[in-house]
Amino acid sequence: MNPFERIFNRYQNLPPVDLTQGRSIAYSRTATRRMMELIDANGQGNVHGGVVMRLVDDSAAIVAIKHCQRSVVTARVETFNFLAPAFIGDMVTVNCEMNFVGRTSMEVAVDVTAEDLITREVRKIASSYVIYVAIDEQRQPTPVPPLTPADDEERIVIERARVRRTLRKKIDEEWAQAEREAEKI
Ligand SMILES: CC(C)(COP(=O)(O)OP(=O)(O)OC[C@H]1O[C@@H](n2cnc3c(N)ncnc32)[C@H](O)[C@@H]1OP(=O)(O)O)[C@@H](O)C(=O)NCCC(=O)NCCS
Repeated sequence: MNPFERIFNRYQNLPPVDLTQGRSIAYSRTATRRMMELIDANGQGNVHGGVVMRLVDDSAAIVAIKHCQRSVVTARVETFNFLAPAFIGDMVTVNCEMNFVGRTSMEVAVDVTAEDLITREVRKIASSYVIYVAIDEQRQPTPVPPLTPADDEERIVIERARVRRTLRKKIDEEWAQAEREAEKI
């Protein structure tokens, strides 16, 4: 079987998902680790920013897929902050957890650290929020299980995400309005 056929077949006849059964943040929380190698370097000898972005997208997608048990597509990188450089030889850890779930979309919060395994110094190097949309066999958005807090700590995380989402909608509307205004110039 050629690999394209295998991929196509794998995502047909997906198992049913109980959409009444909420899932906690802990249910899908994921940490991905990778050593930075020469192939990851930029021209200055640090880790290339695009390598970190790819790691973030790959790792955050795992959380989204675990939560909804469906394929997902990246709909938006909400924020992406590079806080410090990572170096070749560092171990980069990408910590991801679900923060908010809409009808078909999911917001995953990401924290990235780099550890010098010799000195054991750990630095926070990036943070991000990435939004995924679950898709069905026809690659159309499909509903996902709700995010149900397991405890008070998770409840606060979800509430903060709800506030961010409301603010983002407002900013999006203002941005669209500003673009319409700009087009008139
Ligand atoms: C993401 C995508 C599936 C959305 O399709 P669509 O027809 O616009 O879907 P809808 O308007 O029904 O929106 C579906 C959900 O996505 C959310 N969404 C869509 N675009 C979004 C964006 N740019 N930012 C944030 N959320 C977005 C909607 O708010 C909605 O969320 P909800 O169901 O939780 O309320 C479609 O735009 C797409 O396929 N984009 C390309 C994805 C891609 O190729 N990614 C890179 C490689 S994985």
